[in-house]
Amino acid sequence: MTDTPTQADAPATAPEDTVTLTDNATGRTYTLPVLHGTTGPRVIDIRKLYAETGMFTYDPGFTSTGSCESKITYIDGDKGILLHRGFPIEELAEHGDFMEVAYLLLNGELPSRNEKYDFEQIMTRHSMVHEQLTFFYRGFRRDAHPMAILCGITGALSAFYGDSLDINDPQQRMIASHRLISKMPTIAAMAYKYSCGQPFVYPRNDLRYAENFLHMMFAVPTEPYRVNQVLARAMDRIFILHADHEQNASTSSVRLSGSTGANPFACIAAGIASLWGPAHGGANEAVLQMLEQIGRKERIPEFIKRAKDKNDPFRLMGFGHRVYKNHDPRAQVLRRTCHEVLGELGIRHEPLLDIAIELERIALEDEFFVDRKLYPNVDFYSGIILRAMGFPTSMFTVLFALARTVGWISQWKEMIEDRDQRIGRPRQLYTGPTSRHYVPLSMRG
Ligand code: ACO
Repeated sequence: MTDTPTQADAPATAPEDTVTLTDNATGRTYTLPVLHGTTGPRVIDIRKLYAETGMFTYDPGFTSTGSCESKITYIDGDKGILLHRGFPIEELAEHGDFMEVAYLLLNGELPSRNEKYDFEQIMTRHSMVHEQLTFFYRGFRRDAHPMAILCGITGALSAFYGDSLDINDPQQRMIASHRLISKMPTIAAMAYKYSCGQPFVYPRNDLRYAENFLHMMFAVPTEPYRVNQVLARAMDRIFILHADHEQNASTSSVRLSGSTGANPFACIAAGIASLWGPAHGGANEAVLQMLEQIGRKERIPEFIKRAKDKNDPFRLMGFGHRVYKNHDPRAQVLRRTCHEVLGELGIRHEPLLDIAIELERIALEDEFFVDRKLYPNVDFYSGIILRAMGFPTSMFTVLFALARTVGWISQWKEMIEDRDQRIGRPRQLYTGPTSRHYVPLSMRG
């Protein structure tokens, strides 16, 4: 693992590989270099575009814009491929565990046996939070959304762990990363316990990451709690599937915040805020609400019709993805996990799962969805699994944030260690009024 990239790591550019841009207004031509990643589309380097042409590019939603160079995650949305450091997500979810994936994302390689042991020890030892943090929870209303609590508490961590705020010190960067990954289950479970009025449950060092989280969520002081291994494995797999996803909205929020030199705890709080939206991490909560709203299979055509109606804001939640235009590989793993969990819990008939399967079948045959390449995404099945495991809907996005903390902090760390890193500062296409003079209030009528 290196803290600073070497020159050989820089993206390759061949002198003959360029694109030429002609400005029809002036007749001038400009030559722009083209960069090559290790895989994926070629990338036009427009860093000098403004200096040379006096023009900006316009790309709201960043559909054609690469914001950084990264070695962490690769997605081929047309083929439904998701790789972490080169490893397919299906293999990691099938054979690996979340701690291995966390180590991989953070450090670049899968851990050796000893490295994994040490990493798990570190994760265990950092899992308690400063006792003073409990008073922060008490400042929230009991009915506060746990995402609001998670956002606030995570931001507050910077007030407690001042010895890991120096972003220029590699050791402090690593300690902050470990603290965030390790404390997030404790913070998330405390948000839940607070909302239902139960006492906080402390982490246990004899339990593994996902087991420990289930224990902190569902144990009560009055009786022993035994972690169900099928559910713990499903939880671990859900964490793996949500660990990282390239430069999505929340990760970009983390990177943009981090580009100013803000401390890692504040940056992750920014990521949590971004993830909360229903078009991003809030979607699995919205899927369940939608399935409940549909209520019975006979009503599915009515909702499909609404989803296709341009004048109706309704969308099929859990369908469609900015990048995946073939299938979401994570959704396929979760479909299997969903059946495993329901089987383990003896739930033979789950009406919402029946509606979900039928909805998926109808939508995948419908021309509207086929033409627009709209497939179930990772959120389509996760809500049903989490509900069966006993999580309230309001905790779904919290679990997503817990898992994604690994990706966020890995991406943040990579950015800080990138020598080309500069403050993120997009430009705009201004269409407002041009310069005019202030009119005193008395003269404005
Ligand atoms: N239901 C109905 N129509 C849809 C849906 C949907 N879920 N998603 C996209 N469309 C339609 C749009 O109306 C549009 O149709 P048009 O071309 O006739 O105008 C076309 O498909 C393209 O949609 P865009 O909104 O341009 O696609 P974009 O890439 O911007 O949006 C997004 C992707 C936000 C995920 C969108 O598909 C959506 O809102 N899905 C539902 C919410 C959801 O499940 N989010 C979770 C994403 S995964 C994650 O964050 C982990």
